[in-house]
Amino acid sequence: TGLTTLDYGFVNTAATKSAITYIDGDQGILRYRGYPIEQIAANSSYLETAWLLIYGELPSASELEEFDNRIRRHTLLHEDLKRFFDALPHNAHPMSVLAAGVSALSTYYQDSLSPKDPEQVEITTVRLLAKLPVMAAYAHKKSLGQAFLYPDNSLSFVDNFLRLNFGTLAEPYEVNPVVSKALERLLMLHEDHEQNASTSTVRLVGSTEANLFASVSAGINALFGPLHGGANEAVLEMLAKIRDSGEGVARYVERVKNKEDGVRLMGFGHRVYKNFDPRARLVKQSADEVLEALGVQDPLLDIAKELEAVALADDYFIERKLYPNVDFYTGVIYKAMGFPTRMFTVLFAIGRLPGWIAHWREMNNDPQTKIGRPQQLYVGSPARDFPAR
Ligand code: CMC
Repeated sequence: TGLTTLDYGFVNTAATKSAITYIDGDQGILRYRGYPIEQIAANSSYLETAWLLIYGELPSASELEEFDNRIRRHTLLHEDLKRFFDALPHNAHPMSVLAAGVSALSTYYQDSLSPKDPEQVEITTVRLLAKLPVMAAYAHKKSLGQAFLYPDNSLSFVDNFLRLNFGTLAEPYEVNPVVSKALERLLMLHEDHEQNASTSTVRLVGSTEANLFASVSAGINALFGPLHGGANEAVLEMLAKIRDSGEGVARYVERVKNKEDGVRLMGFGHRVYKNFDPRARLVKQSADEVLEALGVQDPLLDIAKELEAVALADDYFIERKLYPNVDFYTGVIYKAMGFPTRMFTVLFAIGRLPGWIAHWREMNNDPQTKIGRPQQLYVGSPARDFPAR
């Protein structure tokens, strides 16, 4: 038709209007519904921020309480769904387990899958927020070979999640308030980031009028990749490799610059932030605070800091405007909290869930939404005759 513009990676193409999150990548600004991320991180909670993203305004105290209570009432998983986890291999990656679990939710709630019925969308929203952390903890327990715990709905959202991960049937579990506060803050920092790859995936799948469980499951799979949410796991692996190989930070940075074996500095660079990632600043602060409060001394944090200093002073990174992103320091904190490396991206998924839901609902309510259907420029063979047989 002559109308198609080629734009690999959608670098310059807006696929939608959105009123949820504002980013100014040159100035390092991130706002949820107009509120600066720094103020959200200092004052809000995971569920309050989720409400803000999904419904557009901060909840009143009673709205928040009701939302919280409603989510607590939906934390239980169907016993058969619990057994579904038993069928998966113990060494499965928890992200694969999580995506499969969310996909399976649509088999249990077949009566509330319609995107066209607001009440069904509402209950699916609550079920996802309530059950994703439980399934995440089951994925973790499964990898340890430990028994699953039932949720304790007298606990807050984050404390319940910590207990499901680190509690055992043998002993009562006491939540460490430092860990709880830090985890809540990290989850808030991840709640939305406008049209990133996983959110765009959720919107694209949702644009076909697929249900919210199916769309979020697709989002989890998109987040899994090391260039997206999987970067937090990849950062820790990279830091451990630098430590174990003994090659030193400077040598590793040289290898990155020479593009040897395609190695990248994981946790560095961002499609949108070309100055700094405001989330990374907040996370770095948390890393120091949490490790100190927990009395953890981790040489990987020292390597991370050295790596950051070397990269920020190097022309290769300066010219390309590459700065630490949100994933650079999160892994060190999750590790100090006791999470295994493979759980890091799962934590990102729990963080991002409210954003996925908010975007799916915004798309679903927008009369201008059309099925997502990119164009291509065909570069294959011209027409030819199939060999006669
Ligand atoms: N290390 C070394 N070089 C890099 C890096 C990096 N982390 N990131 C980009 N570059 C180079 C790249 O090689 C290219 O150089 P040249 O022009 O010589 O070919 C230039 O910078 C531009 O890179 P790009 O791949 O065109 O940039 P992009 O906007 O398409 O990619 C990115 C953004 C985040 C995928 C990329 O920076 C990257 O791969 N970073 C490492 C993975 C990572 O940390 N991802 C987490 C992103 S933040 C949160 C999230 O989504 O999870």
